[in-house]
Amino acid sequence: MEFRHLGRSGLLVSEISYGNWITHGSQVEEEAATACVRAALDTGITTFDTADVYAGTKAEEVLGRALKGERREGLEIFTKVYWPTGPGRNDRGLSRKHIMESINGSLRRLQTDYVDLYQAHRYDYSTPLEETMEAFADIVHSGKAHYIGVSEWKASQIRQAHALARELRIPLVSNQPQYSMLWRVIEAEVIPTSEELGVGQIVWSPMAQGVLSGKYLPGQPPPAGSRATDEKSGAGFIASWLSDDVLTRVQRLKPLAEQAGLTMPQLAVAWVLQNPNVSSAIVGASRPEQVHDNVKAAGVKLDADLLKAIDEIVEPVTERDPAKTESPAQRP
Ligand SMILES: NC(=O)c1ccc[n+]([C@@H]2O[C@H](COP(=O)([O-])OP(=O)(O)OC[C@H]3O[C@@H](n4cnc5c(N)ncnc54)[C@H](OP(=O)(O)O)[C@@H]3O)[C@@H](O)[C@H]2O)c1
Repeated sequence: MEFRHLGRSGLLVSEISYGNWITHGSQVEEEAATACVRAALDTGITTFDTADVYAGTKAEEVLGRALKGERREGLEIFTKVYWPTGPGRNDRGLSRKHIMESINGSLRRLQTDYVDLYQAHRYDYSTPLEETMEAFADIVHSGKAHYIGVSEWKASQIRQAHALARELRIPLVSNQPQYSMLWRVIEAEVIPTSEELGVGQIVWSPMAQGVLSGKYLPGQPPPAGSRATDEKSGAGFIASWLSDDVLTRVQRLKPLAEQAGLTMPQLAVAWVLQNPNVSSAIVGASRPEQVHDNVKAAGVKLDADLLKAIDEIVEPVTERDPAKTESPAQRP
């Protein structure tokens, strides 16, 4: 495993981190979830990402149990707040009330006294940014979180929050956006602003939820046990990637991966890590073999000719519009 600084902070994170959205507490049984966390630890992953909302709060509990007994100082545990965690009108968003309640719930479920990074899972247009940042400051100053991050925030929102964080003397060090060969909306605005401010990207769905592994074939039913067959939640999230045009182009990447001596999942993860503003690629996994495959992308250098060849294949189906970095206009 290789390690990078989280933005311009002193915190080192594993280049590849492990995330448990869709899988833990939902798609996979606890035994498989624990085996994936074990595989992550065995292969040198030290950074784990979850959120209060995943599997209706169950994902944090599963991760907490799976990491129990590990040396806490050897781990970087990230969670998030914003999406609904209960039926009440205040069980969501970035109000002071919800942030304070949510961090306590997350720490209880994760069985830890602090998280390394606490992230705003989207921008909340119904709460003054000052209120949100002051609540985050109290959380940092009380030792419940060491660093603050955001997720899917626009460049202008990151800039405003960063200025407030400096006034409040708390480290806003990261953004968590979607980023892959097929989804490059952060490149035009979010990345230049983040580079200037010292904010690092912890990118999600680097494999486009499994699509860039090449296992979904155009015109064929999805493979058994894959996310596209998970009717509980995964199938709905991955659906937009499963067009024949996307899947046909992904198949054309296979010879490029082979020439580079990489598997398709490794090529996808290595691709996001070529961007120096990316601090870590968060991969998901439904089984331990996937973790063993994916971690080999750490430290891989892709040459310019290969990057150009990838661009030529995927460009017609790649999204680049910075306006696609969005948060709900109203609280969900
Ligand atoms: N901030 C946000 O709003 C946000 C949103 C989404 C995700 N995230 C974070 O990002 C993490 C990763 O997202 P993701 O799960 O969509 O990432 P991903 O790495 O793009 O997709 C992971 C899925 O692809 C399949 N896969 C992984 N490795 C494979 C391999 N070697 N061969 C074949 N298939 C493979 C597995 O699904 P199957 O085996 O089931 O097919 C796995 O669960 C999440 O857990 C979460 O922590 C954050």
